Amino acid sequence: MDPDLDKTVPTITISAAEMTEQVSSPFPSVPPSPMSSPSKSVQTITLGTSGPTVSSLGIGTWAWGDKLFWGYGDKYGEAELEQAFIAAIAQGITLFDTAEIYGLGESERLLGRFLKNHYQRHPEQSLQIATKYFPLPWRFSPNSVSDALTASLTRLGVNSIALYQVHWPFDFLLGQPKLMKALAAEVKRGRIEAISVSNYSAEQMRNAHQQLSDLGVPLAVNQVQYSLLSRGIETNGVMATAQELGITILAYSPLAQGLLTCKYNAATYQAPVGARRLDPRFSKQGLEKLSPLFEKLQAIASHNGHTPAQVALRWVIAQGAVPIPGAKDASQAQNNAQALALSLSAEDIQNLSVISEEIA
Ligand SMILES: NC(=O)c1ccc[n+]([C@@H]2O[C@H](COP(=O)([O-])OP(=O)(O)OC[C@H]3O[C@@H](n4cnc5c(N)ncnc54)[C@H](OP(=O)(O)O)[C@@H]3O)[C@@H](O)[C@H]2O)c1
Repeated sequence: MDPDLDKTVPTITISAAEMTEQVSSPFPSVPPSPMSSPSKSVQTITLGTSGPTVSSLGIGTWAWGDKLFWGYGDKYGEAELEQAFIAAIAQGITLFDTAEIYGLGESERLLGRFLKNHYQRHPEQSLQIATKYFPLPWRFSPNSVSDALTASLTRLGVNSIALYQVHWPFDFLLGQPKLMKALAAEVKRGRIEAISVSNYSAEQMRNAHQQLSDLGVPLAVNQVQYSLLSRGIETNGVMATAQELGITILAYSPLAQGLLTCKYNAATYQAPVGARRLDPRFSKQGLEKLSPLFEKLQAIASHNGHTPAQVALRWVIAQGAVPIPGAKDASQAQNNAQALALSLSAEDIQNLSVISEEIA
């Protein structure tokens, strides 16, 4: 099973509008990251009601070390990824999303090496790392959470992280109440600053929120799929419930795995690398169906002097969610990060919403 072939998404505690110096949060005991101001002014957001403050757009690292789905080691490798990491930070991005299963630990290991180099160069700049726990069937003891976190922290080379996320709402033998209790214990122990779930339905998210509230710890985030091509959370209750409970939505696959960059299109057909070849949306016919949305993205982008990817990411931010687009090199990271510099009119946002509904 590929854990990232999923569907869902968005929320919302915004501070998107203001240009502020980021004030990071803090575990005083945590080397190697002195908490202080970032490299430049950037839009920031507080995760949940009292979680860490992060850039309003993060970078996803599923493709970092993943050969099977994304083709790591073919057209891009560690050098390109470190340049992506550096380019994102140069644009003021401080949030990086990974998971223990990405590249079977390789994504965390790469990020750990990049973090080490970063803190040697810039000990004054703090970053926020979000990683994920995968609820495997044989992880039936609460110690599994602690052990998995220890392994992730070791690969990342840090003593604590901003966000620890339950990758999927699987129960197996451990059960959600015990899982939430084990996570809350790690917050109290200081190894994680805030808790997130991922791919949780509205009801599952509400239950997790209640279980954690009973333990005095808020649920900060639900990470779900959300983009102009995946708007399920707007109607399945996830977005509304997140807003009601003060839970932030982290929007994964915000570029629909590259589709919303408009570089895959019917006119100049090229197949994507890796497992996306199996996705009918990437077929010539699938791309033809999406062409009205591509045309609108391109028109808005050229009018604003930006790119379709930036317009698509800004649309996500306008819905109150925090997009975490993947990036394989410096150019993609910089391009995506600069979505924060784009301002879309209410009319543009509305037009995009309408077209995306029409082609769905
Ligand atoms: N919680 C979960 O279950 C879950 C599931 C999926 C993803 N995620 C997280 O969300 C992150 C983002 O999702 P995603 O990687 O699936 O999809 P995505 O962000 O929608 O698309 C990423 C891909 O699009 C292409 N791309 C990105 N920016 C580009 C640009 N500016 N110009 C041209 N091409 C660009 C790159 O692939 P090509 O160059 O090969 O086209 C890149 O790998 C992941 O890295 C991961 O951290 C979480």
